[in-house]
Amino acid sequence: LQIDLTKNVNEIQPTMYGIFFEDINFAADGGLYAEMVKNRSFEFTIAPFMGWHQPKTNRYSLNEKSGMASVVKHKEGSGNKNFCRVTINDASGYELINEGFRGMGIKENAVYNVYLSALNKSGNISEITLQLITKNGDVLGETKIETSSANWKDYQAQITVSKTEEEAQLKLTFKGTGVIDLDMISMFPVDTWKGREKGLRKDLVQLLYDLKPGFLRFPGGCVVEGRTLERRYQWKKTVGDVEDRELLVNRWNTEFSHKAAPDYYQSFGIGFYEYFQLSEDLGAEPLPILGCGMACQFNTGELAPLEELDPYVQDAIDLIEFANGDATTTWGKLRTDMGHPEPFNLKYVGIGNEQWGPDYIDRYKIFAEKIKAQHPEIIIVSGSGPFPDGEQFEYGWKELKKLDAEIVDEHYYRPPQWFLENAGRYDDYDRNGPKVFAGEYAAHPKGVSDGNTENNWEAALSEAAFMTGLERNADVVVMTSYAPLMAHINAFQWAPDMIWFNNLESYGTANYQVQKLYSNNAGTHTVSLTQNGKNVIGSDGLYASAVKDVSTKTLIIKIANTSKSNKSLSFSVNGASLKRNATITTIENTDLKAYNDFDNPEKVSPKSSNIKVKRKAINVQIPQQSFSVVKIKI
Ligand code: AHR
Repeated sequence: LQIDLTKNVNEIQPTMYGIFFEDINFAADGGLYAEMVKNRSFEFTIAPFMGWHQPKTNRYSLNEKSGMASVVKHKEGSGNKNFCRVTINDASGYELINEGFRGMGIKENAVYNVYLSALNKSGNISEITLQLITKNGDVLGETKIETSSANWKDYQAQITVSKTEEEAQLKLTFKGTGVIDLDMISMFPVDTWKGREKGLRKDLVQLLYDLKPGFLRFPGGCVVEGRTLERRYQWKKTVGDVEDRELLVNRWNTEFSHKAAPDYYQSFGIGFYEYFQLSEDLGAEPLPILGCGMACQFNTGELAPLEELDPYVQDAIDLIEFANGDATTTWGKLRTDMGHPEPFNLKYVGIGNEQWGPDYIDRYKIFAEKIKAQHPEIIIVSGSGPFPDGEQFEYGWKELKKLDAEIVDEHYYRPPQWFLENAGRYDDYDRNGPKVFAGEYAAHPKGVSDGNTENNWEAALSEAAFMTGLERNADVVVMTSYAPLMAHINAFQWAPDMIWFNNLESYGTANYQVQKLYSNNAGTHTVSLTQNGKNVIGSDGLYASAVKDVSTKTLIIKIANTSKSNKSLSFSVNGASLKRNATITTIENTDLKAYNDFDNPEKVSPKSSNIKVKRKAINVQIPQQSFSVVKIKI
């Protein structure tokens, strides 16, 4: 094989390998957002007591001889419309329990902040005891809050846990009798990402951080569009005080569920401010995707008429102000008041998620014209629909090219074989047309599947092979992201996914390991790698590409061997002299069905070793069914 550092030298964008976050599979509520109380302010629309029960009565019925609870609607049109009124007749008999998001994961010796708002309405209820309990009622930690205020008052206390438990619950009991109103009953670990109070789950953000992502795309996915326009994601409802953010039934509630999720709501505890802040923490460019006046075409496909598109476009323009404007602007002031006076330096905005056809093009045109008129500096990402080929895809690309679109988002969920066959997909893309954002992709051995088993080595290796083609074509492919990003093992709607978690632990899949090797070794420029003058795309099961990193003066070679034979490869190098020491990092497994799980989270993961190279040549041993990254200083 021949590497030539003087040929095909194209810049690789720092955005090349990013992440795509969507609140699917309990990724936000029940996942990244470390809130442990489900339905903390009694707003769930299907049943306002969902998540809560009183153990002596039927599930979700909270009425007992000893006491009762009912939901009172006190404010119309605000985020926090409801509160819970508790009447205690016999304090010894009444308990209110929150089940958490498929339980609450609590750790031995860890400390948890609990919060609630209360108003003593009548009687003499003087104390609330909050206990973390097992399903059998064993107490693992507790605290008490004294209540006496006749006006709404916020209380906070801490619970230290005596024993680790994955499916704990939070129990409230009361001292005295009478009536007390409760709202925003909430619990977070003290130990969150960056120690932020009411913040994000540390282990999950760490996994994202370790990817060194070039961008963070948010908030979806189909949640952007909603099943109906009314239920679309509206960023303005996700900023400001957390308790005033209006809850929304998640687009992934129940339908498509492998584990039914009638309790899947969006609290927006992670809203647009938090997404921007997370992007900043990760060193990733923020890439918000906004609704374009089209509900999900796989559902109702409801359309906002073109003449009524203004509020949608205005949302996009105001978002730019929220991210980049100063405190003299309306939305810049809100960001400042929320604690971030410096701009978030937003450079990209995506219009529509996965829409297709003339309805999309008509709407995209209006957005693009109006955004560019006010913000020529913003780069607009448009979409080509859900399928990587076919009539709608061709139509979308043709029209977007005519409109001089800047970056077009392509999605592909396909079997591993498709990824192998498409490793040359971008070799012939028009170099003068729009750039490509491979915004959602994943190899699906079985289609949307039953869980983490399909995040197997076969899928990940096929993605590694395919990604040599993304890398080789970095002059046209400027952003890429695997999808979906995260899934709760007991509450997912879509699989495979890159990261799996339960209430206590998380791990990166084989696919995550591949993504990490690419993004941690992205390089700054492509260089030519050929075999007998041709790109290395599957001949004898071999896929390879090379880049250089000018800042670290490194040559980086990526090699996927999908064949069942070990290979001895020899690379000649032109255009640089090689230092003697190099490293090779390899993921290998002879079992293509191998996958990581909670018991064995690193079963499919990379191992590194040192190798010696000659001045102008590199010889490496590449195992069967493996993916390797070779790094040599130049
Ligand atoms: O990633 C899961 C879903 O796949 C996304 O929400 C959507 O954009 C696509 O259809």
